[in-house]
Amino acid sequence: MTESSGDVRCPGVGLISVGWMGKLHTKAYQAVPLTYPELGLRPRLVVAADTEPSRAGYAVDVLGYESGVTDYREVLAHPDVDVVSICAPNFLHAEMGVAAARAGKHFWIEKPVGRGYDEALTVADAAREAGVVTSVGFNYRHAPAVEHIKQLVADGRLGRITNVRCVFFAGYSADPRGALSWRFQRAYAGSGILGDLGSHAIDLCTYLVGPVASVTAMTSTVHTSRPILPMGTGTHFAVIDGGELGEVENEDYAGALLKFGGLGPGAGAVGTLESSRVAVGPDCRYGIEIYGTEGSVAWDFERLNELKVFSGRGASELGYVTVNANPTYGDFARFQPGAGCSMGFDDLKTIEAKKFLAAVADLAHDNSTIADAVASAAFVSAAEESAATGQWVGLPPVPGVTAAGLPDPVTAG
Ligand SMILES: NC(=O)c1ccc[n+]([C@@H]2O[C@H](COP(=O)([O-])OP(=O)(O)OC[C@H]3O[C@@H](n4cnc5c(N)ncnc54)[C@H](O)[C@@H]3O)[C@@H](O)[C@H]2O)c1
Repeated sequence: MTESSGDVRCPGVGLISVGWMGKLHTKAYQAVPLTYPELGLRPRLVVAADTEPSRAGYAVDVLGYESGVTDYREVLAHPDVDVVSICAPNFLHAEMGVAAARAGKHFWIEKPVGRGYDEALTVADAAREAGVVTSVGFNYRHAPAVEHIKQLVADGRLGRITNVRCVFFAGYSADPRGALSWRFQRAYAGSGILGDLGSHAIDLCTYLVGPVASVTAMTSTVHTSRPILPMGTGTHFAVIDGGELGEVENEDYAGALLKFGGLGPGAGAVGTLESSRVAVGPDCRYGIEIYGTEGSVAWDFERLNELKVFSGRGASELGYVTVNANPTYGDFARFQPGAGCSMGFDDLKTIEAKKFLAAVADLAHDNSTIADAVASAAFVSAAEESAATGQWVGLPPVPGVTAAGLPDPVTAG
């Protein structure tokens, strides 16, 4: 790690891809010194790469990188780069993740990490061989209200976990004129909503109650063609009037039944997981409900700072209590002084950046890791297989320690 005076560390940052996530990772690095001053971390923005030259230029002119390039390999070869953010479309994750590991760079990579289990596993193997630190863009687990749920579950306040209901409904492509971005093409994205939002949803389930053992799923594609959006232009929220149409090659909606396994609090529980990118009504209704023998909780990203809790089956006042996230939950106090002041999506990325950089500096190890990406991809690939065959499918093994906090029983022996 690049050192400067005293206890201050200045990790050199390299960014790969300057789209939505590339900008957000950068903003998160910039926010770390202000939000977590005691860590003494002052990331230095060294070099950013995007094949679209105007985006490489934007990285220098607006984001503040020292240089901008169009070939990501220059980022990995740069001697001042200690950590790399990989924010490229899914089809590049495996190539870039393996290359980053072989270059000895610690990396923070966006979900879903590749186009399925095999690619995620390839990246995990390379990271393990190289001994580099990894983090994955599973931002929703950092919401202070979600951290509080984890505590409630761990403390047994909900009793034995019986079932989980997870619904990740987005409306970003609800309009049939919604752009055909790379997300709709198998070669670039792999699966559709399963990899896009289903990967987040299953990570939340795993993080909060434990690993999923088997799945049965079905999928559907609601809008089968859309106006083409060239790579590196616009966002997947774009709506295009007219223009050439292209085929939607992956699913808009997925629904799954889950059986939880492992050794965590969810062992033996069951659940449902639904995900859509064409929901008319919900924009980002990313919700999880966890039910136990003594209580239940519900959280929804659209109301990020709120939590509904029913604790105590025999209480005289029955019904849910709506709780505001407050400075005792997760990292809330780093962002707002008191309950009722809202945190936002970008703040979750700041927490993620802090966890990644703290792990690289060996200050703490509470970051998500590439093993979590493999666990998530294991679900995505099993759900795809089940949707194709109509059968229950057991999830493939996950080497390493995952969000469940426990070694995978299969690979740990
Ligand atoms: N964690 C989250 O909540 C979240 C949200 C959105 C996206 N993502 C993930 O982040 C990744 C990127 O998504 P996005 O929405 O930022 O995409 P985007 O379309 O906004 O940006 C992708 C960028 O990659 C660039 N690119 C393409 N090929 C490249 C190459 N060979 N080298 C360098 N750059 C290249 C494009 O020009 C573009 O600027 C995806 O894997 C996606 O699943 C995660």
